[in-house]
Amino acid sequence: MYPYQLKSFEEYQQAYHQSVIDPEGFWANIAEHFYWRKKWDKVLEWDFKSPNIKWFAGGKLNITENCLDRHLGTLGNQPAIIWEPNEPDEHHRIITYRDLYNKVCQFANVLKNNGVKKGDRVCIYMGMIPELAIATLACARIGAIHSVVFGGFSAQSIADRIQDAQCSLVITCDGAFRGGKDIPLKSVIDDALIGCPTVKRVIVCTRTRTPVSMLKGRDVWWEDEIKQVETMGNPACPAEEMDAEDMLFILYTSGSTGKPKGVVHTCGGYMVYANYTFVNTFQYQPGEVYFCTADIGWITGHSYIAYGPLSAGATTLMFEGVPTYPDAGRLWDIVDKYRVNILYTAPTAIRSLMGYGLGPVNHKDLSSLRKLGSVGEPINEEAWHWFKDNIGKGRCPIVDTWWQTETGGIMITPIAGITPEKPGYATLPLPGVQPILVDENGKEVTGNNVSGNLCIKFPWPGMLRTTFGDHERFRKTYFSTYEGLYFTGDGCMRDEDGYYRITGRVDDVLNVSGHRIGTAEVENAINMHAGVVESAVVGYPHEIKGQGIYAFVIAERFTHDAELTKKDILQTVSRIIGPIAKPDKIQFVSGLPKTRSGKIMRRILRKIAEGEFDNLGDTSTLLEPAVVEEIKKGKL
Ligand code: PRX
Repeated sequence: MYPYQLKSFEEYQQAYHQSVIDPEGFWANIAEHFYWRKKWDKVLEWDFKSPNIKWFAGGKLNITENCLDRHLGTLGNQPAIIWEPNEPDEHHRIITYRDLYNKVCQFANVLKNNGVKKGDRVCIYMGMIPELAIATLACARIGAIHSVVFGGFSAQSIADRIQDAQCSLVITCDGAFRGGKDIPLKSVIDDALIGCPTVKRVIVCTRTRTPVSMLKGRDVWWEDEIKQVETMGNPACPAEEMDAEDMLFILYTSGSTGKPKGVVHTCGGYMVYANYTFVNTFQYQPGEVYFCTADIGWITGHSYIAYGPLSAGATTLMFEGVPTYPDAGRLWDIVDKYRVNILYTAPTAIRSLMGYGLGPVNHKDLSSLRKLGSVGEPINEEAWHWFKDNIGKGRCPIVDTWWQTETGGIMITPIAGITPEKPGYATLPLPGVQPILVDENGKEVTGNNVSGNLCIKFPWPGMLRTTFGDHERFRKTYFSTYEGLYFTGDGCMRDEDGYYRITGRVDDVLNVSGHRIGTAEVENAINMHAGVVESAVVGYPHEIKGQGIYAFVIAERFTHDAELTKKDILQTVSRIIGPIAKPDKIQFVSGLPKTRSGKIMRRILRKIAEGEFDNLGDTSTLLEPAVVEEIKKGKL
């Protein structure tokens, strides 16, 4: 089924070697196995200076023909998506490849009827229901560029993203069910759209049946629009022919400065890479049921719920709810119910479930599991072993997959059952990935048993091509720190065996429960609160979330009740970014440690937040050294 699936460690080594000495030949051989309307003229064109990266230039394709049409003959009646609702006793849905094809075509026609054309940007803000996958694929079908925004972001965040991408249409739901909560998606969109004149149409899919306002001339119901298409007869929708380098989607992600940037992925390279990494990392076998617990609002959902598995003709399980609802055994119930073979989840979920003990795991039938995966943040050894022993029962390999929104797909990881694994280590690069470690001066750190900043020195097909509307920001963020290298922002060590261990971000980006949040963004949000003069945000180790958010805040005045003011600030952050960015701790301070030039010394704050008081380094160069003592005393 997958001629390029590696079957042994030797095959991995050979493929890796081949991918370094002849990257173009290597990727061309893999790309051959996809459906192209026209083959590429040139496999790769690149320079990391401009930067300019093109894979399979001149190639013509549509990713949905690879995810849907080409499977109809052989897999038409196979489940493409299994959908498990939030409530365990609500009916689940099984959508075969033929059903999915029909639904995508139908909704693609709806989009066309509503004026969407190739190249238009469409914002998608929905819960985890099959219509979310259908909406994204329908955009891809007609060449519209989707920008999915995670259902936990606030109106302001959505507005920023819609404005940046100049979206003309929004697809949303009346609401979303997540655990015990109903999230009023449409109402959030209504607030967001006050400042978004480019949006001419909103399509609203029914899920929670919560009352919503429908604006005449702008808002229409998904179901009504589908009916209209049905009355027109033939639901087929020919796929738009796309150039390999046409944009497929934008996904916003946080960096160390400014507002989130729109990471751009293109059609050809992304498809090949998402598929290759899915098929290999998880060693997917036809018929296996694969369950990734991420949300489609993040890159993991894009690449490993939707495009990777579907392009491979796999059965992908989509879960609407959360691992702890109605109880902490929910994931294990799902594994049991659908005989899940591959489970891909996040360390934060594992740690939170560990906290409930083995009660919710015992007596669940997990015998169908064959492979386990972890993504999003470093996995601590304790969580790794718990996952291995209690979920995998000691017989399932774990793939600790390191990658980023920008990389489009998995970069450094064990290959399940094929290459070695080591707790806490992402281990070895996949074929086609050339990592290097550099010191602060950009000098390569060679040999083993070394640490440095992680860079990639050669392009891979899944890499981002630009940041939407701002190519200079793309260059500055990723290619200017170290000349000629893509800089990941991560610190990394390479052990005596040459295995890579990612140690976390070295820039001002936090990873909270696997969600990426810029400290600058959180500070901006806090500073918008009336009465706040200035703030500084750092991360600190958090038992479940991986990192927690610690905010040091100078407030001009607070309502005599400091606790109430903290709550007000949390509310402000929720409004500006979303609940995921709410600080775990807020400490009011009278000043911040600053250099004479006015720069906040985050290093000192980080140490204090971590409770490491002894090792603050030289504080004599500070403007007001006394402030450090005060902050230490008030530490929460
Ligand atoms: O710091 C790394 C961490 O998550 C960052 C990327 O975040 P995001 O773009 O949101 O993508 C998350 C899903 C791919 C990285 O820079 N990270 C991701 N996976 C791992 C990881 N850190 C350690 N180990 C991992 N397996």
